Formats: sequence, structure tokens, C-alpha cells
Amino acid sequence: MSSKISIIGAGMTGATTAHWLAERELADLVLVDIVEGMPQGKALDLLQSLPVIGKDVAVVGSNDYAATKGSDIIVITAGVPRKPGMSREDLLTTNAQIVQAATENALKESPDAIFIVLTNPLDTMAYLTMKVGKLPPERVVGQAGILDSARMRAFVALETGVSVENIACYVLGGHGDEMVPLTSRSNIAGISLREYLPADRLEAIVDRTRKGGGEIVSLLKTGSAYYAPAVAVAQMAEAILKDKHLIVPASAYLQGEYGLTDIFFGVPVQLGRGGVERILEYALEPDEKAALEKSAAAVKESIQVLHSLVKI
Ligand code: APR
Repeated sequence: MSSKISIIGAGMTGATTAHWLAERELADLVLVDIVEGMPQGKALDLLQSLPVIGKDVAVVGSNDYAATKGSDIIVITAGVPRKPGMSREDLLTTNAQIVQAATENALKESPDAIFIVLTNPLDTMAYLTMKVGKLPPERVVGQAGILDSARMRAFVALETGVSVENIACYVLGGHGDEMVPLTSRSNIAGISLREYLPADRLEAIVDRTRKGGGEIVSLLKTGSAYYAPAVAVAQMAEAILKDKHLIVPASAYLQGEYGLTDIFFGVPVQLGRGGVERILEYALEPDEKAALEKSAAAVKESIQVLHSLVKI
């Protein structure tokens, strides 16, 4: 294939991202991990699945970044996931070192790549990638909003019995406990959720969405969610490689939008071949604006901790 996507971290989210991407037959794939043999084994297994579904994609696993040379997109999933009771912020110290190394090593082989970051704490790790890579803001985007919005859509579908295809949800803000499900804009076939659902049911959905990742961590006990985060990355990679100009909620570097600067934050972004082409600004309800400010304060605090750990 003429395009190439390299995934750094071949664990649960990395390997599942490769799976979703291979099905889309978008690009040749490279899986990189520090564990010897593991990315090679997973790559071979995935490669051997492709004749069954008739997809012609090269899949390679490696412990060496040389295999990633000339990638169009680098996906960073390397790092540790949460354990029950942990917040995403608890991962910061460990994952900052891993994401810094992944960014620097990948960039040497693919100086023009667009980076999609998935490692948590998400907004802070995307910020780190942009800063250590000295990358222009449009070439770094963090995956969180598609996932959080999909969780909300799934919960609305469970509540109402309506097809997920009719349900549009928009979750903005930081990818943490303070994320902001925009209930005024989220809708079922054009009808606002605020009209469609009783207030207490809507509030329960908002609450479950905010805690959606933690709910899965508590159930799994040995890791965090991977199907939904991975398919969200695949959608973003497809939008970029196909130059779709697709608008999705994602973490982008803000320079004044929503009154915020020098922060990665979940906002509606338009994705195309150049990466983040545009950031859209909603006119927000007062309660949503206040919630976004609270969420931004949490991300700012995390970025401050990052500055105390890494010279960027
Ligand atoms: N370089 C490359 N890979 C690394 C490095 C490194 N320096 N350090 C760790 N890894 C690899 C691990 O060996 C492991 O295979 O990253 C992989 C992470 O996979 P999992 O432990 O299965 O975790 P996963 O569920 O994929 O989550 C990874 O994404 O969604 C976030 O919160 C999640 O921060 C976590 C990250």
C-alpha cells in the first residue's frame, strides 16, 4: 500500500488499533514494542487473518524503530494502563518518560508524520508529544472525544432503544473525570437529549459517561478499555489519510479557542491530510461553559506537573 501507519505500543490498544485499521485496508502497518517477540508475533497473527477477509495489507512487528521509517501516521499507545482505583493522572510520571522516548524515536524515522496520541493522561501526553517533537500543532492530535462520545451514544441507545446511528453525542473537555458531555447539542435524530430524556435519566447517562473508562477498569481488573479507544483511533487515521475533512471531537492544541491557550483539550476538530485543519467553536450554554472551565483547570494542573518532570 502507499500509506504507512506505525503503532508504538503493541499492547491491548495498539494491537486492537492495528486490527481495526487492517480491516479498513488503509495502509501498511507496523507494530513496535519493547517486549521482544510480542509485536512480531501479533503482527504475524494479524497478517495471517487477512486472507480470510481479503485485505491486502503488510503487517510487520518490531522492537526497532527502523521498521517505522517513512510512516504517514504514528499512533502512540505505549505506556501503562490504569489499575482499579487509579485515575488517568496517576499514570503521568511513568507514561511521560515512555511517550517522550516514543515521540523522539519515531520522529527520527518519520520526520513528516502526523501523531495520534492515545496514552493517558491523554491531553497531557499529546501536549508532551507536540513539545518534545517541536511539532506544529496541526500534526498532533489526541484521541479521547470519539471514545467518550461513543460511550455516551451507547448509553443513550441502551436507555431509549433507538439505533446508535440516530444518536449524536458530543463530549468535550479533558479526558478525565471532569469531561463535559454537551447535553444541549447531543441529540436523537435532531431532538436535543434535554428534550428527549427526563432530566434524571440524562444526568445518570452523563455520570456514567464520565466514569465510563473507570467502570471498565474495575471490571477488567488487569487493564483498561481497548476496543472502543482503538476503533476511535482508526476513524481518525482514516479521516487523515483519506483527507475527509471529518469533524470529530478530539484533543487539539488551543491558542485562544474557547478562551484557552497552551493546552491540549477536547474540542471539535476537522481532520484531513494535514492533520488538524480547523478547530470549531460552539456557542455554549452557561452550565457547559462553567463545566469546560473546570475541566480545563484540571488539564492545566496536569500540564504543570508535566513541566516539573520534563524539560520542555
Ligand atoms: N516503547 C514501546 N512500547 C512500550 C514502551 C516503550 N518505551 N513502554 C511500554 N510499552 C508497551 C508495553 O510493553 C505494552 O505492550 O506499551 C504497551 C501498552 O499496552 P497495554 O499494557 O496492553 O496497555 P493498553 O491497554 O494498550 O493502554 C496503553 O493507552 O488507553 C491508554 O490508559 C491507556 O495509557 C494507557 C495506554
